[in-house]
Amino acid sequence: MHYHIWTLGCQMNTADSQLLASELEKRGHRAVEDWQQADIWVINTCVVRQSAEDKAYGRLNQLNALKKKDPTKIIGLMGCLVGVRDPLRLRRKLPYVDVFMPPSEPEAMLAFLDDRGAEADALAVEAAARAMRDAIQDEEFHFIEPQPGTPAVVSRDYAGGMGHAGGDLILPLHERGTLVSAHVPVVYGCSHACTYCIIPFRRGIERSRPVGEIVAHVRSLARQGVKEITLLGQIVDRYGKDIPDGPDLADLLHIVHEIAEEEGIARIRFLTSHPNWMTDRLLDTVAALPRVMPHIEVPNQAGDDDVLENMKRGYTIEAYRRLIHRIRERIPGVAIHTDIIVGFSGETAEQFQRTYDVLAELKLDKAHIAKYSPRPHTVSQRRMDDDVTPEEKERRRKALDDLQQQIVAEINARYLGETVEVLVEERHKGKWRGRTPQNKLVFFESDRNLLGELVNVEITWTGPWSMQGRLPGSVEADPVTIIPISAQP
Ligand code: 5AD
Repeated sequence: MHYHIWTLGCQMNTADSQLLASELEKRGHRAVEDWQQADIWVINTCVVRQSAEDKAYGRLNQLNALKKKDPTKIIGLMGCLVGVRDPLRLRRKLPYVDVFMPPSEPEAMLAFLDDRGAEADALAVEAAARAMRDAIQDEEFHFIEPQPGTPAVVSRDYAGGMGHAGGDLILPLHERGTLVSAHVPVVYGCSHACTYCIIPFRRGIERSRPVGEIVAHVRSLARQGVKEITLLGQIVDRYGKDIPDGPDLADLLHIVHEIAEEEGIARIRFLTSHPNWMTDRLLDTVAALPRVMPHIEVPNQAGDDDVLENMKRGYTIEAYRRLIHRIRERIPGVAIHTDIIVGFSGETAEQFQRTYDVLAELKLDKAHIAKYSPRPHTVSQRRMDDDVTPEEKERRRKALDDLQQQIVAEINARYLGETVEVLVEERHKGKWRGRTPQNKLVFFESDRNLLGELVNVEITWTGPWSMQGRLPGSVEADPVTIIPISAQP
């Protein structure tokens, strides 16, 4: 059969969709770009904000209408809309959906396709029961330690074990030989209790993947031509904290770095970090290992201490400021990305101004700015008023966006005339497109096939979103001096 997957949301979903695609292809199914031609439709969903959830429902409604005309179509729903808790309730609400898959768990679809419908049901119920146990969040505590011992078992049971056959991943056909940069989950779920965040409810308790599985995953990707891997976790620096005497993220980076040297992986990244879990040892490891890129994603969320307290982030703005200085001191040339939420419950104009001032002061390389969106069951949704108007949220978002655009334009302008190392990821509208160590986008021209190569590019133009460059020695075509062949003597 033919399948088509829509992937919404974060990089973890990208990795989860890839795992599902890999498993479908092992069973002989093939991807099609034209989704109308597919027999199996899968939406891998995100619910971090209402707008993301609306997108999933929009697509679902469209598919439902088409399925009425052709009932043989199979609809699969995956990811955070399903969550680890309540597929039964969702099943009643969406009777036309054939299969519900919790985040990182494609097994229900495979069981369904193997004509094991009853087993798919049992798996969904089992996943719900397990999650009920796992995802209990106690809002009184900033952070809940997972029970020692359980996570690795959970992970081996259903997060990576079955689909990955011990961690190996065979890329789907359309990515084999062309995918340069891939994501590798290392921590599933999240056990923090940020008051606005729905993720712990939907992805379950934090559980680290056994290192052997990660190693197998990375090696298998390398052998299929992948040149860059990004280790993923909701709080990636928490890696290994749930495995007694296990490696931490710094150890894991050393292990993955060794594999990278053996297998020809050029670059390693990791995300997302939490300010409270970034140790100096981790930062020094990033600085010391040449294939680990100088690129840190560490969300700030707000620039005011009371707002941070209401969000239960567990740090002050002064601590965040010190962290940024520490990162810059220890990792030369580092790029730092952040996330900000504007219009959180109770955020006053003065408090917002402090966020603005902090961003203006710290001059980070990228800021993902989101308007606060109350999510079901979260503490902020149940206990706090969503009292900033939509217009005011939009005003604050735009103010930060404008500021950040100016900052990034300034930062990027410093690269003008510099030569940077670019890992070439794909061909885009007649140009090669790649990234610098700091994860900045670069476009340049060349007739050679440079896919997956590391090349030095001289930057000739910079903007806030991307840069343009040329290979040293190459001359950019000047339209005035081009003489048509027919006119040559
Ligand atoms: N409303 C708006 N943004 C949110 N995020 C998480 N939860 C919410 C919410 N309820 C943002 C945070 C996080 C990013 C992935 O999404 O900034 O870092």
